[in-house]
Amino acid sequence: MTNSKISVQNLNLYYKDFQALKNVSLDVLENRVTALIGPSGCGKSTFLRTLNRMNDLIEGVRVEGKVTLDGVDIYRPDVDVVSLRKRVGMVFQKPNPFPMSVYDNVAYGPRIHGIKNKQQLDQIVEKSLRGAALWDEVQDRLYKSALGLSGGQQQRLCIARLLAVEPEVLLMDEPTSALDPVSTLKIEELIRELKNKYTIIIVTHNMQQAARVSDTTAFFLNGDLVECGDTGAIFTMPEDKRTEDYITGRFG
Ligand SMILES: Nc1ncnc2c1ncn2[C@@H]1O[C@H](COP(=O)(O)OP(=O)(O)OP(=O)(O)O)[C@@H](O)[C@H]1O
Ligand SMILES: [Mg+2]
Repeated sequence: MTNSKISVQNLNLYYKDFQALKNVSLDVLENRVTALIGPSGCGKSTFLRTLNRMNDLIEGVRVEGKVTLDGVDIYRPDVDVVSLRKRVGMVFQKPNPFPMSVYDNVAYGPRIHGIKNKQQLDQIVEKSLRGAALWDEVQDRLYKSALGLSGGQQQRLCIARLLAVEPEVLLMDEPTSALDPVSTLKIEELIRELKNKYTIIIVTHNMQQAARVSDTTAFFLNGDLVECGDTGAIFTMPEDKRTEDYITGRFG
């Protein structure tokens, strides 16, 4: 038996008067990889952002329904959004390292959370870079600019930066869409390793990738969650005709 780390119930999201998510209910299992698939504009990124309240930053957004993390409603007014985003971290489509050294990128979060001790920071930086399968490639250039890394290395650095603040859930919005096939496979391997410790939700347009890395797949269409289930089942015998049409490339 696996616990639900996140539970979404009857979630509606509006950008002013446009409804982008329609009555979405979904349980995200702990230590599993959940893939979100669906055509462009169907609400995948919007949904991802509801899980750590990143949509709060967008003007005119209204959210109805319930999202719980370990059973606690994250939209309760007394929830500390900064610590929520520490627990539920996000990686974006385009790697976005800060214009500072590799070391300072990874140490950034821990420093903000009050860690100043050099030895302790050194340990966190090494552990996080190892966790993101990047240490071997950057250990001799820790103090050089992160902007000098390749795209694939930058994306792993962004993952290391997340790991440094010890999150519980990793949200990944098309993390490999800007990467070459070799870097993509590295990130996929990494995702498979990371799920032992974290709960991962990944948005992807790559059906093979969803099939390779995820345990559960959720198919979105026009703001509706059409179907969600075991990845093997979704890709071999989807229940809904629209899911079948999408995964076989008939539309989207
Ligand atoms: N800030 C915003 N203001 C208004 N509408 C928005 C905003 N962000 C997204 N939308 C709309 O909400 C819908 C869902 O967008 P979203 O970015 O979640 O789609 P997506 O599934 O991630 O698409 P893609 O695969 O292209 O990234 C789209 O119709 C989009 O135009
Ligand atoms: Mg998107």
